[in-house]
Amino acid sequence: MSRKLFIAGNWKMNSSAASSVEVAAGMASELGAIDAVDMAICPPFVYIPGVVEAFKGSNIGVGAQNMYFEDNGAFTGEISGQMLKDIGCRYVILGHSERRHVLGETDALINTKVTKALADELEIMFCVGELLDERKADQTTAVVTRQITEGLKNISREAMSSITIAYEPVWAIGTGETATPDQAQDVHATIRGLVGQLYDAEIADAVRIQYGGSVKPSNAAELLGCPDVDGALVGGASMTVADFAGIVNSVL
Ligand code: PGA
Repeated sequence: MSRKLFIAGNWKMNSSAASSVEVAAGMASELGAIDAVDMAICPPFVYIPGVVEAFKGSNIGVGAQNMYFEDNGAFTGEISGQMLKDIGCRYVILGHSERRHVLGETDALINTKVTKALADELEIMFCVGELLDERKADQTTAVVTRQITEGLKNISREAMSSITIAYEPVWAIGTGETATPDQAQDVHATIRGLVGQLYDAEIADAVRIQYGGSVKPSNAAELLGCPDVDGALVGGASMTVADFAGIVNSVL
């Protein structure tokens, strides 16, 4: 099966009210008419409305970088999936390595969020990936297997069409160090095999697996040319129109 590439930007805790709108407007005019690849940008929560407005009428979707698993109530500081839908989000990133390793999110918590995001009819970018020490100790397969098995626990076969898996080796995120195409392809094939075991061949064939970790215009074509790499989750290089457009244009 040939899967449509999905290129998404994760702005993390960067940008401002003015720059988020300016960059989004630039992306909308430069990339907004492209439909050969799926595209999304995930700004900080507070800048989502401005980006939604800037992307109106374009083919670029908007996502959040996280959500909580309750609808509303006494959860000071949290944002629900329903709130995200309410302001025009289509996507949510869950299980990003910074949520796991800086904010302490567990596989069980991420599974609860995945379950709720599906109920809220959000599409999910579900992130997995090993630390440098885990790679050195030859534990990459064990780590991503655990993260996927636990993170997708009790997630139905039907729901898998709303989930993109993002493989992001933690040692390659924000470091300038990129997995080689062979390293990426290797883990992506392992992940697809695992999805086949957990579900079936049809689901494994259809699921999109993004690569993330220092993707930039100069390496995107090579990485996205791998047979099991179906897109990219881009941090730093999604912050400017030129870099994000460079990545998208390199695969057209
Ligand atoms: P990076 O971040 O592209 O800046 O390495 C990727 C990510 O964390 O999603």
